[in-house]
Amino acid sequence: MKTLDVGGWKMRCVDRGDGLPIVFVHGFPLDHTMWAEQTAALSSRSVRAIAPDLRGFGESAVEGETVTMEQFADDLAAMLDALGVARPIVLCGLSMGGYIALQFWQKYAARLQGLILCDTRAAADAPDVAAGRFQTADRVPREGASLLVETMFPRIFGETTRRRRPELLDAMRRVVAANDPRGVAAALRGMAERPDMSGRLSQIACPTLVLVGQEDISSPPAEMRVMAEAIPGARFVEIPAAGHLAPLENPAAVNAAIADFLAV
Ligand code: MLT
Repeated sequence: MKTLDVGGWKMRCVDRGDGLPIVFVHGFPLDHTMWAEQTAALSSRSVRAIAPDLRGFGESAVEGETVTMEQFADDLAAMLDALGVARPIVLCGLSMGGYIALQFWQKYAARLQGLILCDTRAAADAPDVAAGRFQTADRVPREGASLLVETMFPRIFGETTRRRRPELLDAMRRVVAANDPRGVAAALRGMAERPDMSGRLSQIACPTLVLVGQEDISSPPAEMRVMAEAIPGARFVEIPAAGHLAPLENPAAVNAAIADFLAV
């Protein structure tokens, strides 16, 4: 792991391999470890795999009461500057990481060579969902980040993983519990405030891969197919035996889809 000074605060990231830079942006409320199988496999194939802990998650510093998706995108741009990455990157984001990737595209399109959107959505939160996030954001600092495990895990792991790989749930439970509740709360508020990007998808001009776990009930395949169809020329791939955390649940299939998309 590298430690970077990003605008006066500490950001930690994995930076592995040489070649085409791919930035892997984790989902909520996880950290860079969810991409371990991708950074290991792809960094041996002409790829520079970069996987940060977003601000407020993992080993990165906690900054701010609300962190918008745009702010996270700005952090990624600052991280690339700190790493000396000037060439266009491929940006791969899962769920919240996908919300951030769309903001990065909106602001820094010239820095993008490609986009990989995993188990995510372009729409904003419905008002009741946003209200629920604000309430949870108030509770998390008092009750701890583990509060989210009970409500989220049945929705983010596919049925196959829940049945066959309990050790994966345990590992992610530890990741969630280790996150600073203030960082988790700030991201919840930021997600609640995120803009609707559905109407912008037709303007994405870089090569795009849309990936979804076949058992994803949070951003289901039918919804992600519509998203892929709205992005000119996007490739759409369904990952078998995986839910919302497809890269973690079926890494071999996800790595193959990414390697094929990148032709590495
Ligand atoms: C995630 O996996 O990042 C979350 O499901 C995002 C969300 O809560 O919308």
